[in-house]
Order: sequence, then C-alpha cells, then structure tokens
Amino acid sequence: MSRVKGFISFEGSEGSGKSTHAKLLAAYLRAQGHNVLETAEPGGTNIGNKIRGLLLDPENDMDPLTELLLYYSARAQHVREIIYPALLQNTVVITDRFTDSTAAYQGYARGIDLSIIETLNDIVVPDLKPSLTILLDLDVEEGLRRNRTAQKIDRFEQETIDFHGRVRQGFHQIAREEPERVRLVDASRDKEEISREIIKIVEESWH
Ligand code: TMP
Repeated sequence: MSRVKGFISFEGSEGSGKSTHAKLLAAYLRAQGHNVLETAEPGGTNIGNKIRGLLLDPENDMDPLTELLLYYSARAQHVREIIYPALLQNTVVITDRFTDSTAAYQGYARGIDLSIIETLNDIVVPDLKPSLTILLDLDVEEGLRRNRTAQKIDRFEQETIDFHGRVRQGFHQIAREEPERVRLVDASRDKEEISREIIKIVEESWH
C-alpha cells in the first residue's frame, strides 16, 4: 500500500494550527464529494486515546525509550484499526500528526537515533507513507504562546524552547529530504490565506 493518493498528514510544532487546518481541508474535500476520515495521533482509537493520556500527563516522568514505544503502540493500533481499512475503501484519510512527528520529537529533539525510528516504521507501518504532508511552520515561541492562551499545558508544552527549536529544525530537515511529499506552509499568516494555500497544494498534488 506504499504511497496512497488519499493519505494526507498534517505536521508542525506546538500551536501551529494543524487541527484547525486538517478540519478545514476535510470540510473542503467532503464538499467536493470525497469520503474523508479525520483522525489524529497519538490517538484515533480507544486504546490510542488511553496511551495519549499516559504520554501527555505532565505528572509522568518518562524515559525516552518508553515514550518512543508508546507512540508506536498507539500507532500500531491506529493504522490497523482505522487507517488501513479506510484507505482500502478509498476514503481520504487526513491525520493530525504521523511518523514525521516521531522523527522530529523523539529523534531530532530527544536525540533517539533516527535509524531506530526507521526500524520501528518498518515493523509498525510497513509500506505506508502519507502521499502528502502539510508542514505548518511557525516560530516556536509564538506557537507555545497560542497554546497557553488556549490553556493547553501538557508534558511537551513544558519542554524548553531549545527542545521545541530542535523539533522545528527536525521538521525542516525532513522537508528538505523529501520536498515532494512534505510541503512547508507559513503558519504565521491569517487562517483563510493558509487554508487557500493548503487546498491549492492538495489539488495540484492530485493532478
Ligand atoms: P498534539 O498536541 O498535536 O495533539 O500532539 C500531542 C503531542 O505529542 C505533541 O506535543 C507532539 C507529541 N508527539 C510526539 O512527540 N511524537 C509523535 O510521534 C506524535 C504523533 C506526537
């Protein structure tokens, strides 16, 4: 099932507007007559949401390897229970975060060797990659400010600015390595402008 046409991921650092733009794109594609499934990581299933609770709880002092494996446990369930079946029915799947988040957060920011993450991808999501990834790029301090205004304080929001800077640089590196799949979108602009650009990117990628 390598690069399925209708598997779109949204990626980006904290407060970059992924969830908002995933929803806007889903609404647009539905209006165009597509069947669309919106989902998110970590989560998307009952088990995934329980694992999400463990991962984001600021009370949990978690070892980086535990963290990595919990993301992949949630993902194993998510792809098998939700994503593969939807793609097999020709549903467009839009996910708010996927494997690039693991490379950016656990790899580039936490320092886990990227080859370990690649090996886990081979085991957990063999032969599955988004056909298109929208990378919403925003200054990290601005993103964290937006999240605080929305009262979103989880285990990752408590990380240092340096950590979030490494996440952002990690995403930039991924975009440089796979420029066709990963499209960087400036998330500092107003919502309508960003949404128009995303729709244009998706339509062009399908033609
Ligand atoms: P969210 O805030 O976009 O819902 O994502 C929850 C947090 O999980 C966010 O801080 C990014 C982090 N995350 C990882 O560290 N690795 C991953 O693989 C994923 C999917 C998310």
